[in-house]
Amino acid sequence: MIDGQNKSPIIRMFHVYKNYGAKKALVNITLDIPKNELLFISGPSGAGKTTLLKLLYLGEKVSEGQILIEGMNLSRISHKRIPLLRRKYGIIFQDYKLIATKTIFDNVAIVLEATGKKRRFIEKKVKSILRTVGMEESLHSFPPSLSGGEQQRIAVARAIVGDPKIILADEPTGNLDEVSANIILDLLKRFHTRGATVIIATHDKELIRKTGGRVIHLNQGYMQKTTNVESYINDSQL
Ligand SMILES: Nc1ncnc2c1ncn2[C@@H]1O[C@H](COP(=O)(O)OP(=O)(O)OP(=O)(O)O)[C@@H](O)[C@H]1O
Ligand SMILES: [Mg+2]
Repeated sequence: MIDGQNKSPIIRMFHVYKNYGAKKALVNITLDIPKNELLFISGPSGAGKTTLLKLLYLGEKVSEGQILIEGMNLSRISHKRIPLLRRKYGIIFQDYKLIATKTIFDNVAIVLEATGKKRRFIEKKVKSILRTVGMEESLHSFPPSLSGGEQQRIAVARAIVGDPKIILADEPTGNLDEVSANIILDLLKRFHTRGATVIIATHDKELIRKTGGRVIHLNQGYMQKTTNVESYINDSQL
C-alpha cells in the first residue's frame, strides 16, 4: 500500500458538539482518524463514547461542527445516500440490536442480502463467521433464547460478515468472559491487519492494554487526552 494514501484520514471531525436538550454530550471534538487506524475511545460511563460513534453513522446528528467520512460531509448527505454511508460500517452496538423475530442465521445474513449477494455465498459465509465466533450450533435459534454474551458474539458476526471498511465497536466485550473476549479481540485485530479502520469504545483498561493502538480519552463530553496505549496504561489519572 502507498504510505501517504494509507495515512489520509478516512474520518474527520471538526469542532463537533452534541447536545441532548440542555445536556452537553460532546464538546468541541476535533479529530482525524487515518485509514486503517486502530483507535480506542475510552472514558467513564456517560463520557460520550456511544454518542461519538452514533454521530459517525448518522444515528444522531451533530448539534454543531462538521464530520467528513471519506470526504463525504454528513451534514449535507441526502437521504438517498444514507444506506451507502452505512454500508461502509460494521457496527457492534452496545445493546446488540439483534432482531428478536429472526433466527441467528437471518440476523447475520441480512447484511449480505442487503447488498444482493447470492444465496449460496450467503450460506457459506454466514456459517463460516458463526463458526469463527463459536456460535455455529445456534444457527436456528432466536436471539431471546441466547445469553447476553452469546448475543454479543452474534452482533460481532453481523458487524464483520460484510467485510466493512470501518468497524465501530461499542463495548464489544462488555458481556463476555475472558476466553470469548479474547476471541472477539483477535477478530477485530485481524480485521485491522487486513486494512479496516477499527474504532472501539470501551472503559475496559485491560482490553486496551492487550490490544495497542491510539487512545482518545473522553470525560464529560470533552476530549481530555489523546495518547498511545503505553502512556494510557501508565497514566494513573485515567
Ligand atoms: N438520547 C439521549 N437523550 C438524552 N441524553 C442522552 C441521550 N443519549 C445519551 N445521553 C446523555 O449523554 C451523555 C453521554 O452518553 P453516552 O451514551 O454517549 O455515554 P457513554 O460514554 O457511551 O457511557 P457508557 O460507558 O455508560 O456506555 C450521558 O450523560 C447520557 O445520559
Ligand atoms: Mg456507551
